[in-house]
Amino acid sequence: MKVLVIGGGAREHALCRSLSLDSAVTSLHCAPGNAGIAEVAELHPVDALDGAAVARLAAELDAELVVVGPEAPLVAGVADAVREAGIPCFGPSSEAARLEGSKAFAKDVMAAANVPTARAYVCTTPAEIDTALDAFGAPYVVKDDGLAAGKGVVVTDDVEAARAHALACGRVVIEEFLDGPEVSLFAITDGVTVLPLQPAQDFKRARDGDAGPNTGGMGAYSPLPWADPKLVDEVMETVLQPTVDELRRRGTPFAGLLYAGLAITSRGVRVIEFNARFGDPETQVVLARLKTPLAGVLLNAANGTLASEPALNWLDDAAVTVVIASHNYPETPRTGDPIEGLDEVAAHDAPQAYVLHAGTRRDGDAIVSAGGRVLSVTATGAGLAEARERAYTALARVRLDGSQHRTDIAAKAAGV
Ligand code: AMP
Ligand code: GLY
Repeated sequence: MKVLVIGGGAREHALCRSLSLDSAVTSLHCAPGNAGIAEVAELHPVDALDGAAVARLAAELDAELVVVGPEAPLVAGVADAVREAGIPCFGPSSEAARLEGSKAFAKDVMAAANVPTARAYVCTTPAEIDTALDAFGAPYVVKDDGLAAGKGVVVTDDVEAARAHALACGRVVIEEFLDGPEVSLFAITDGVTVLPLQPAQDFKRARDGDAGPNTGGMGAYSPLPWADPKLVDEVMETVLQPTVDELRRRGTPFAGLLYAGLAITSRGVRVIEFNARFGDPETQVVLARLKTPLAGVLLNAANGTLASEPALNWLDDAAVTVVIASHNYPETPRTGDPIEGLDEVAAHDAPQAYVLHAGTRRDGDAIVSAGGRVLSVTATGAGLAEARERAYTALARVRLDGSQHRTDIAAKAAGV
């Protein structure tokens, strides 16, 4: 199978790595990719947001499957353009991707499908904003309605900061604070059949101890030893299947990866947000544990034949990933710094630990940083403690001037 992956972050590197290990995949392409993906796939300098250009590239390559990684191309309709060209595509339509693209739309779908989530007001005027902030009290949760790369949400005890963010957003969702640990659960769906993956936990705050600003994600682990073994079944029944059914009922079926960001509150599971694509960095740990070859599952989802897919197989191993971010991430990340030590990881730590590239590019013989999140060091082990130790051992070999990472990824869950 000839496969084309769209995107160029650590999630796409993880997808490409899994696809490159799948014997059904005969040739692998990525656009635009990054310096790490170039080691497993042929790169093409195509704008991921340009549906016509992506469809043209897929046709030129005779691609039999296109996988769209990030949210921005999905919301822009890139999957629609590929499907219109008659090429199977893993990734929801622009209409269905509104589940991520508009928080207000997601709330409306959840209300219609009876999916448990935080009570919320959608506000557009200062008066509505004040009413909503008063109604819920502190801590305040204020969310930009549109796509904001993980930076549109402010959670604060400071009513002035909450009001200022709300006024800056235009259309804004103000909602009830959900207390409890967060879980990310992904499901692959063709719009009818839903196949859940294994749950993972992401670390959204920039610094140790969940301090600092929200980021795109600083690390993740799977499995979750502390979670109820029935969690996946419960979320399937109360969240994933009803949401997929509701979008089909509306005539905008969701086919692709449905990401449920959940809070496990004292009153039960609540949806914090939906995303319309694999999450980063959770994908790195979930795919590290997936034994079933990936390409066939994604193709079945793209073709509407997921019901023929047997249950997925998983390694018993645990997986941990730690993100290396650039100087001053997430505020004003510095780019262009050389990265060293990657070959040492390959020599000493592979295959149990490896580096996935997020924001990198080649500059002559060097690999340099090209984004806020630069690398994602991923490792597997017999348990979380071993996976964690391997990830941090490998991470210590990587040198990037001014870089930062969290030192406490999976520490609590591993009991260390
Ligand atoms: P989101 O972009 O919706 O995932 O929000 C980013 C982060 O903000 C989440 O991962 C949570 O840590 C936090 N957050 C969002 N909504 C809530 C909420 N209703 N209650 C508590 N924390 C929240
Ligand atoms: N891990 C958070 C996200 O992908 O949005």
